[in-house]
Amino acid sequence: IPGHDNQAPREVSLDEIRAVLGDCRLCPLCETRNNIVFGVGNPQARVMFVGEAPGKNEDLQGEPFVGRAGENLNGILSLAGLAREDIYIANVLKCRPPANRNPKPDEVLACSPFLREQIRSIWPDIIVTLGNPATHFVLKTEIGITKLRGRFHQMGHFVVMPTLHPAAALRNPAWQELLEADFRMLGDYLARHPQDEQ
Ligand code: URA
Repeated sequence: IPGHDNQAPREVSLDEIRAVLGDCRLCPLCETRNNIVFGVGNPQARVMFVGEAPGKNEDLQGEPFVGRAGENLNGILSLAGLAREDIYIANVLKCRPPANRNPKPDEVLACSPFLREQIRSIWPDIIVTLGNPATHFVLKTEIGITKLRGRFHQMGHFVVMPTLHPAAALRNPAWQELLEADFRMLGDYLARHPQDEQ
């Protein structure tokens, strides 16, 4: 995984990873969650999206990006020539932090092995990180998203495209424009690289 020691694909299925996660009690978020939100999408996705953590609707439905942020994401995917069924989406945290507060370092430490294994299983060409927590986890940096977005970052096997979180962009029209510009840039990249060597 980008910036991590074990960057190698792994022949393990997403179902197996989900089974290991089980009824996880590795961090205190298990006390307040309604559902674990593992991830959803194409297990062979070329483009994998990484968000922060489930919100209210995701926690209730057990699926990532089904609330307003998800509607925004669905609406702009076509700018990149993508549909929901093409991609895989997972979050850094599988359980909702109370009142959607930011993930705590201990929670990321406890939960991120599952995301790491999901990335190794899917082995995408491109990882799109949505917002700061996902970007900081994948790129192993503390630099803010507004400085990192707008270009691709190579991390070993992976091309990483950090961009603004679709929930944050809903509150800021200028950010929404930047988010959409990034998705068009992703579409251009995919058109120029029809199939990377696997
Ligand atoms: N925001 C996220 O980061 N992830 C979700 O699944 C929903 C909202």
